[in-house]
Amino acid sequence: MTQILPHGGILVNRIAQGEERETALNKATFLPAITINAWTISDLDLIGVGAFSPLTGFMNEEDYHAVVHDMKLADGTLWSIPITLPVQEEELPWLKTGEQAALIGEDGITYGIIAIDSIYKADQKEEAVRVFKTDDIAHPGVKKLFGLPSTYVGGSITVLNRPRPSRFTEFYFDPAETRQQFAEKGWKTVVGFQTRNPVHRAHEYIQKTAMEIVDALFLNPLVGETKSDDVPADVRMRSYLALLEHYYPEDRTFLGVFPAAMRYAGPREAIFHAIVRKNYGCTHFIVGRDHAGVGDYYGTYEAQELLKTIPVEELGITPLYFEHSFFCSACGNMATSKTCPHDKSQHVALSGTKVREMLRNGICPPPEFSRPEVASILIAGMTEQEQPVTT
Ligand code: ADX
Repeated sequence: MTQILPHGGILVNRIAQGEERETALNKATFLPAITINAWTISDLDLIGVGAFSPLTGFMNEEDYHAVVHDMKLADGTLWSIPITLPVQEEELPWLKTGEQAALIGEDGITYGIIAIDSIYKADQKEEAVRVFKTDDIAHPGVKKLFGLPSTYVGGSITVLNRPRPSRFTEFYFDPAETRQQFAEKGWKTVVGFQTRNPVHRAHEYIQKTAMEIVDALFLNPLVGETKSDDVPADVRMRSYLALLEHYYPEDRTFLGVFPAAMRYAGPREAIFHAIVRKNYGCTHFIVGRDHAGVGDYYGTYEAQELLKTIPVEELGITPLYFEHSFFCSACGNMATSKTCPHDKSQHVALSGTKVREMLRNGICPPPEFSRPEVASILIAGMTEQEQPVTT
């Protein structure tokens, strides 16, 4: 069966195996080291498995500038988020363009090798303003960026060791595997759903509305680094499983995680999220209200507006846009302003802060907001570990 093509046409695979891996691991012991944190390890792995196709490595200077300024790689391919390798000052003297370096985790594991193509100074203020549309340090993505070294190293990578998830390993699939699964199930059209939150009724509503017009749903929660007040990934995973068990058709739903870090870049991240889901084999991608947004930095439909400016042939995957959804007591249904004629006073509206406060106090939000099976897992998760999954 013909499937949607990956971004750029070819699914990248830069995972070394067997003898090639052994040789590279040996070689790595003699190479200068670049220390990489959990975020970079996840980027490295996602490049390696082709989730970030057509990227074959961390961006060189040319690609970085093209992405920051024009949302394109140097060859003109659409790409909205810089994928970079910031390097500590003290490691720089050992690095040379044209040579290789070992990518070593803080745990001492050699995760990969980079063939250095360029070493360059980034203007992080400009990067912030262009990518996040703000240089406000209160923005979690900007704060993260400004905490990084400002010299970046670009070049193709080879993955030698993969990060090992400690839990929910059965929900980790590489793009080649999701593509194979979708094909085996005979799904021609699959809608991808990005989330960093528990799935509440509004999420469920837009997913199921989309499911009416495609073969299946790929529930693809982001489980990499998130900000500390987001619900920890393992609590969310438990809530997704409960929800799927009770409310979703097993033969038309597929749960697999997206082990990337959350950037909170709103509109630009929506494009990135769509491209990555195309690489996983999705034909459609849901973009609702304030996709990948945080605070008041982006307009409710800004991500949708930006996506609409991208020519269809450049994006490749079909975005499905949804308005802000809510439960309307007068309709007795989930709805949006497109389908509901009633006054706002009839709508069940709860802020994220309010919901978190309720859950922390052991109070279930109303069933019109969240399924009770989900709410009880979130309450248990809140009380048993007030610990975030993030740094
Ligand atoms: S995100 O940062 O991953 O985008 P979240 O997990 O809340 O945050 O959202 C997942 C997807 O659901 C996004 O496409 C978002 O726009 C959409 N969404 C979230 N809440 C609503 C809502 N009430 N109405 C419509 N779309 C929503």
